[in-house]
Amino acid sequence: MIKDDLKKILVTEEQISARCIELGKQLDHDYAGSHDLLFVGILKGSVPFMAELIKRVSLDIQIDFMAVSSYQGTETLGDIKIIKDLEVSIQGRDLVLVEDIVDTGITINSLKTLLYNKGAHDVKVVTLLDKPSRRQVDVKADYVGFEVENEFVVGFGLDYNQKYRNLPYIGVLKEELY
Ligand code: IMP
Ligand code: MG
Repeated sequence: MIKDDLKKILVTEEQISARCIELGKQLDHDYAGSHDLLFVGILKGSVPFMAELIKRVSLDIQIDFMAVSSYQGTETLGDIKIIKDLEVSIQGRDLVLVEDIVDTGITINSLKTLLYNKGAHDVKVVTLLDKPSRRQVDVKADYVGFEVENEFVVGFGLDYNQKYRNLPYIGVLKEELY
């Protein structure tokens, strides 16, 4: 069982579910005047959070997904590669990017630039987890589920070598597994 690989649980199912209700209420309030709202999930890590969060939003929204990867090697800091692009137009629209975790900040920073360049009216970020101590670029998530220490975490979408995404909570692996 994959749960036997954990050293500890950091965020429980109940905490995630309760926080998604709060975030949903906050988004309902903040976007009450917005038209044509699009939630963009960043694959694959955001899938469980996206599913839980959008059920708690009562506004008229659409959803879409993108997949990105960071360039390896000599490319300048901040370049990302689009693996799967959006299927809908974002021209003049308000976007809410949904992420599993903001770590160095490079992913959301590059994505925000890219989406503004493609004509988005506004781009905000909601992330399940935030690791502010690891930031390499000056970018902030607008909505944060939970702040975590500088520790590698898995579960609820977050992986280690593509494993553990299906754990229903967030935890830390036993040292010998990293
Ligand atoms: P950033 O571009 O450095 O902010 O990284 C964001 C991406 O790195 C996330 O979407 C995750 O896929 C991955 N990541 C960063 N920290 C962790 C972690 O603790 N566990 C699992 N994935 C992580
Ligand atoms: Mg990710």
